[in-house]
Amino acid sequence: MLLNVRREACLLPYNTLGLAAHAEALLEASSIEQLQEAVKQGWFAGPDPAYLLGGGSNIVMRSSKLGRVVKVGLLGRVIEVLDDGHALVRAAAGEPWHPFVMWTLGQGWDGLENLALIPGTLGATPVQNIGAYGVEIKDVLDHVKVMDRITGQTTTLTRDECAFGYRDSIFKRPQGQHWVIVEVAMRLKRGAEPRYAYADLQTELNQAGITAPNALEVAQAVIRIRQRKLPDPAQLGNVGSFFKNPLIDQPEATALLRKYPKLPAWPAPQAAGFAPQVKISAAWMIDQCGWKGYRKGDAGVHTQHALVIVNHAKASGQQIADLAQAIQRDVEQRFGVHLEAEPVIW
Ligand code: EPU
Repeated sequence: MLLNVRREACLLPYNTLGLAAHAEALLEASSIEQLQEAVKQGWFAGPDPAYLLGGGSNIVMRSSKLGRVVKVGLLGRVIEVLDDGHALVRAAAGEPWHPFVMWTLGQGWDGLENLALIPGTLGATPVQNIGAYGVEIKDVLDHVKVMDRITGQTTTLTRDECAFGYRDSIFKRPQGQHWVIVEVAMRLKRGAEPRYAYADLQTELNQAGITAPNALEVAQAVIRIRQRKLPDPAQLGNVGSFFKNPLIDQPEATALLRKYPKLPAWPAPQAAGFAPQVKISAAWMIDQCGWKGYRKGDAGVHTQHALVIVNHAKASGQQIADLAQAIQRDVEQRFGVHLEAEPVIW
């Protein structure tokens, strides 16, 4: 089988930070069979296995010269109507996320409205368990179909097997690194009760005079908030939130909140057997350190949201990574809290 491979490919159009990295070889796979052929041809073997690329919206290409890269470009959507008011909506990993969300809503299947306008492809959504405005993909995910990049065999992982956490899943840990997500299946509902308790979302709906929103109205409100606060990657390179909101233990949170009463903090869901934790706002701490709107060369921090690092034009991956490190150091010194980077660094 002939594979679609380009040598010395420029990855500029393949990452939303707009970094001009080059891949020694770029393979664009549009079917499972092509991915399996890539396995056979050794793309994922050896000391430098190929990197996997979806929409490139959660990757910082720090190195300007990369080895082999496989872009997962599988397309296709199927709705299977179940007899309990739900549908199992399955879609291929390469489907762009936002158009998919709007399509499900257009078909009358609710559940993804809070996750509107997130950049990237479907296959990447379970990896970091995307979340926004009170909903995470794990809330509606039924299962994922994966291919083993060593054997080429496909299998299905249930939601539990994905071991989701806040911006976390098995796919980010060593034991899940051999999987390539090829399809994602979600259980969506007709006329589901929309979730809009998230303060920003509630304010947005109130201001629009909407008291009992339907799913589409929630999506539209989310889109307006995101357009106001987060830069459009097509206009200004970025990967959304650059850091996770730190999860800290209750006593540490109490001490920190005594010192900084304005620090936004939320109780985090408690995992069985673990001490209660508190999620604190990374954006607020970065903002307090004065980074919002900062710019050095073409690497900077967004003027509307301190958690978003931007590439104004020609910043290098290294300059972006250096800025992130300077922010981390500053927050650690001032608040004693470590910020963990959210995107994957190549
Ligand atoms: N804030 C500041 N300064 C800022 C921005 C925000 O002080 O410059 C404060 C606000 O006052 C607010 C708090 O930070 O109280 C939280 O801000 P926001 O509602 O924007 O949410 P976030 O915690 O910064 C998270 C996600 C976003 C998601 C929003 C909405 C993470 C790492 N980020 O951001 O996800 O859209 O909540 O649910 O959890 C992404 O992952 O790329 C992403 C954009």
